[in-house]
Amino acid sequence: MKSIILAGGSGTRLYPVTRIVNKHLLPVYNKPMIYYPLSLVMLIGIREILLVVNPQDLEAYRGLLKDGSHLGMSISYAVQKEPRGLAEGLILGENFVGDENICYVLGDNIFFGHDLPKILVEAKEEVERKGGAHIFGYYVKDPERFGVVEFDREGNVISLEEKPKNPKSHYAVVGLYFYDREAVEIAKRVKPSDRGELEITFVNEEYRKKGKLKVKILGRGFAWFDAGTHDSFLEAGEFVATIEKKTGLMIGCIEEIAYRNGWINKEQLKKLARSMEKTEYGKYLLRVAEEEG
Ligand code: DAU
Repeated sequence: MKSIILAGGSGTRLYPVTRIVNKHLLPVYNKPMIYYPLSLVMLIGIREILLVVNPQDLEAYRGLLKDGSHLGMSISYAVQKEPRGLAEGLILGENFVGDENICYVLGDNIFFGHDLPKILVEAKEEVERKGGAHIFGYYVKDPERFGVVEFDREGNVISLEEKPKNPKSHYAVVGLYFYDREAVEIAKRVKPSDRGELEITFVNEEYRKKGKLKVKILGRGFAWFDAGTHDSFLEAGEFVATIEKKTGLMIGCIEEIAYRNGWINKEQLKKLARSMEKTEYGKYLLRVAEEEG
């Protein structure tokens, strides 16, 4: 499976902060926002990633993440000329995807929870075995801000709506989706919605109509942030700071995950650590490299 991470968009809900700097490059506590979704796909063993970016931000992303080889990965870039909607990333990723299945991730979504990688790997493997699509629901008090999923007791999806005025449930569809290759063809058929965007909800709805959409609920043990507003952005940063200080372990540390996955060796990790050894981040990486075993 390969992954496409969306890091374009206009970021207007974070203006004036994002007038010049792209949202996903802003720090969520001690690392750029993009590290969090990137680390999640790494945690489930995906090494080939396409980042969808705005034209003016391409060089910044290349400077930050390069071609991924320093992490034992392959990171490539696709430029989205205009933020025409989430489904366009699938079309831009057509050649990159080839015949593979897709883990599709929104760059401003931050996840945390014990066993999260296990749950995601189960969904990933199911899509790899049987095809179709897999989405995740999360209870929120303000569902009208999100894609909303309604489901029955058996977990079958009854309806999907994008930012409905009268939501049929309290479950938001989070920004992480597993698709088989057909998603690209479906995305090509998406027409702009009333708000003028190529909605990812349309893609999910097509899978639902064919009986090929599964939903899993991320329950109380999980934290999920769509860091797209000033408040949710701040909340995400505070959350990361609290957990990291309490546990002494980092969330979303891509160098550590690359090392623990066996994609880079101890010497490579130390080299990355030394390039930022004045920071707590660099010192943390050195500690990881010096652990026994
Ligand atoms: O966060 C979950 C929600 O994300 C879902 O519940 C919704 O169904 C889904 O439509 C989406 O809603 P948002 O309104 O939060 O999407 P937003 O416009 O913030 O874009 C999500 C990410 O995708 C963001 O990191 C920017 C990036 N993006 C967005 C657009 C519209 C792109 O890369 N290109 C785009 O054209």
